[in-house]
Amino acid sequence: MDFFRENPGGDSWEALKGECSRCMDCQLGHTRQHLVFGVGNESADVMFIGEGPGEQEDLQGEPFVGPAGKLLDTMLQIIDLDRTQVYIANIVKCRPPRNRDPLPDEQAACMPWLERQLALVDPKILVFLGRIAAMAFIKPDFRITREHGQWFDVDGRKAMAMYHPSALLRDPSKRPETFVDLKTLQREIRSLRG
Ligand code: URA
Repeated sequence: MDFFRENPGGDSWEALKGECSRCMDCQLGHTRQHLVFGVGNESADVMFIGEGPGEQEDLQGEPFVGPAGKLLDTMLQIIDLDRTQVYIANIVKCRPPRNRDPLPDEQAACMPWLERQLALVDPKILVFLGRIAAMAFIKPDFRITREHGQWFDVDGRKAMAMYHPSALLRDPSKRPETFVDLKTLQREIRSLRG
């Protein structure tokens, strides 16, 4: 699939944010408090993609601001990054009720917004947080337990999945593996910078 579409119409952040803020393309639009567009450096080398907003994100309109977000901040710190240096978005921009997985039709309805964000950020490295994002971009049968921390090619970009921070909160025994994945990511970022 071609996630990084060309930008022939001269897309802009202003146009994208304006159009997206009014989106009612799936049922999640009816129950959201806030649409959670994305945040961070709009020309980042590294883009993190999560699953979808939770309760705090829905209330505040920003990705990863709840407990999982605090852990994501710590993960970034471990490799000397912070939110100002990366771009963070989700597969769906509105909160699924009771934090259930976003349904395939909800993911499909939201994907064009994310594709436009990808085209504008034009990151060199993609990091998928959790199985849902990895299945959407890497392959439908992606197995997070076996394949986290491995590099894949997504439309010519380096792409890796890590355990979702919520999974690491539920099961701290997975944290050492995530530390290794973060160090793998850090090496790749350093090699970009030469
Ligand atoms: N979990 C996600 O996948 N995304 C968020 O923004 C928050 C929690």
